[in-house]
Parts: sequence; structure tokens; C-alpha cells
Amino acid sequence: MDTFDCIATKVEVRAFSKKPVPADVKARILEAARLTGSSMNTQHWRFIVVQDEGNLKQLADDSSTGGWSADSDFSVIILTDPKVPGHIIDAGRALQDMQLAAWDAGVCSGIFTGVKADKMRKDFAIPKELEITAVAGFGYPKESVTGKKKDRKPLGEIAFGEKFGNEIDFKVK
Ligand SMILES: Cc1cc2nc3c(=O)[nH]c(=O)nc-3n(C[C@H](O)[C@H](O)[C@H](O)COP(=O)(O)O)c2cc1C
Repeated sequence: MDTFDCIATKVEVRAFSKKPVPADVKARILEAARLTGSSMNTQHWRFIVVQDEGNLKQLADDSSTGGWSADSDFSVIILTDPKVPGHIIDAGRALQDMQLAAWDAGVCSGIFTGVKADKMRKDFAIPKELEITAVAGFGYPKESVTGKKKDRKPLGEIAFGEKFGNEIDFKVK
């Protein structure tokens, strides 16, 4: 898929079918995370891939905003080192790369950040030095997602030319 089309069509999905995601596709999604650039190339992140049905239920239970992830085919817990400046940006970039690589392969995903941290730490043996930054659930969609509309502000409302508030003229150069 063309990169822009991938970005333009990708939506968050929180309802998944039972169809399993093949191992090579899962590996490709994790490879996208591995290849993402991080602050000073520290690669401080760690990813826990949860595939077992019982563990997926546990993970969903350890969340306050991601109960839907119980039905994902697999979920990825993204951990970052809070001592690294910009560690949350790093997590966001790896997340988006995973989500786009997945979307390109027809696999949908959703993310959640509401976690019961102490519980999740205990259940998934997460070291205390690492922050639970986000969790992404992946799987084939339960319903068709083609042509789903995105609710986004117009560009003129969020982007400016030269100074805050100025309209952009892309033809200026
Ligand atoms: C930083 C961040 C945190 C988010 N946290 C949650 C969450 O806890 N639970 C959830 O269901 N979705 C969460 N989302 C997903 C957003 O709701 C989603 O990106 C937004 O609604 C746009 O969805 P769309 O691309 O399908 O239009 C989060 C997204 C971001 C970027």
C-alpha cells in the first residue's frame, strides 16, 4: 500500500474476529517497532508480546480503558525508560510504525494507555525501571473497516504559516 494511503485510511479498531494472525505477519509488525528510530538511538524500549488467550484476558483486566483488547489476536505492551528524554515520543513512533505495518498487511489495531500499573507489572513481570507507556491490541477486524471516516479538524485550524494563527500558502515557494 502507498505510504500516504496507509496513513490516510488507517483507523483504530477495537473489535476483532477470531481469525488468527499468521506468525510471519506478527513478526513483521514487531520488526517495524525494532526498526523505528529512538532518542539518541538508545532503543530503551522493550515490547512484551501477549498471545495466550488467558494472558490477553488478564491484560485487558489490568486496563481501565482497553477492555476490548481481550479479543485481540495478540497485544503488545510497550515499555520505555523514563530516564530517556522523549521516551514517550519514542513509544508513539514505534506504536504508529507497528500500527501502519499491521494495517498494510490487513491487520487492525487499537491502543490503550489506561493501565492499572501495579497489577500489570506484577502479572507480566515488568521491571520497576521501565514505564508502561501504552498497549496495542492487534487482529483482523470483526466488521469491515473500508471507507471508515476519520473525525479530524481541518488543516487551517491546526497548522499555520510562518507565525501562529497565519494561514498557510503552500504556493509561496
Ligand atoms: C496517546 C493516545 C492514547 C490513547 N488511549 C486510548 C485508550 O486508552 N483507549 C482507547 O480505546 N483508545 C485510545 N486511543 C485511541 C484514540 O482514541 C484514537 O487514536 C482516536 O480516537 C482516533 O481514532 P481514529 O484514527 O480511528 O479516527 C489513544 C490514542 C492515543 C494517540
